[in-house]
Amino acid sequence: MPGASVPLPVSAGPPESPRHVAVIMDGNGRWAKSRGLPRLEGHRQGAESVRRCIEAAIDHGVEYLTLFGFSSENWKRSEAEVNGLMSLLRLYLRREIAELDKNGVRFIVIGDRSRLEPDINKMIADAEQRTAGNTRMTLVLALSYGARDELVRAARVLARAVAAGEMTADDIDEPTISRYLYTADIPDPDLLIRTSGEQRISNFLLWQCAYTEFVFTDTLWPDFDESDFAAAISTYKGRERRFGAAGV
Ligand code: IPE
Ligand code: IPE
Ligand code: MG
Repeated sequence: MPGASVPLPVSAGPPESPRHVAVIMDGNGRWAKSRGLPRLEGHRQGAESVRRCIEAAIDHGVEYLTLFGFSSENWKRSEAEVNGLMSLLRLYLRREIAELDKNGVRFIVIGDRSRLEPDINKMIADAEQRTAGNTRMTLVLALSYGARDELVRAARVLARAVAAGEMTADDIDEPTISRYLYTADIPDPDLLIRTSGEQRISNFLLWQCAYTEFVFTDTLWPDFDESDFAAAISTYKGRERRFGAAGV
């Protein structure tokens, strides 16, 4: 649904199951450190949690699951850690896509692909193409993703279109901006989960989370399982979403 950020739903009251769940998968490093293991071991275990989380999301009837895998700021980490994460990504793409496809999951990536290695981009493009017709759930993996970067890109494209006389400044409204984001065809998240006790958004989906419900858990991402997912859904269902309307 292009321009999914608007209009906002008008009804207030307890929400149904979330259509779109987004997750900031945080705490791999601390999980490893607490065990005296290298950070990469935490990331390796984190990949197992990804599998569990996808299964849990399917079981809960989630239509879109967006996972923050690597931020535009994560490039600042040591070369060894970045290389290790990229190797894990390769392994994940090589091993998991067939399973996702079998389970009816459509796979897409959002983020700045120009910073990813060509072989990774090729695997992503193949995976997106292979799973394009699947309808059970859409898995959105955010890689080299930063929300401010996403908004800057949208602003540049729109500015160029205005400069070229293809549109006027007044043509730019909320649906227009939504359409120029990586998430153009994806509805806004209903629920955002962040693990590891941090309570910040870290440049994730800034525009899209305008009315998203946030659930924070102390669980470190490698320990996150079906029961944590179910607990977050249950917390979400106890919330009252108002979208600016008067309370019930
Ligand atoms: C999340 O875990 C994974 C990525 C950001 C790639 P971290 O690596 O941020 O783990 P902590 O926050 O240092 O524990
Ligand atoms: C956010 O976690 C990015 C991902 C989970 C991929 P970070 O660990 O990078 O965020 P900060 O640095 O704690 O804000
Ligand atoms: Mg972290």
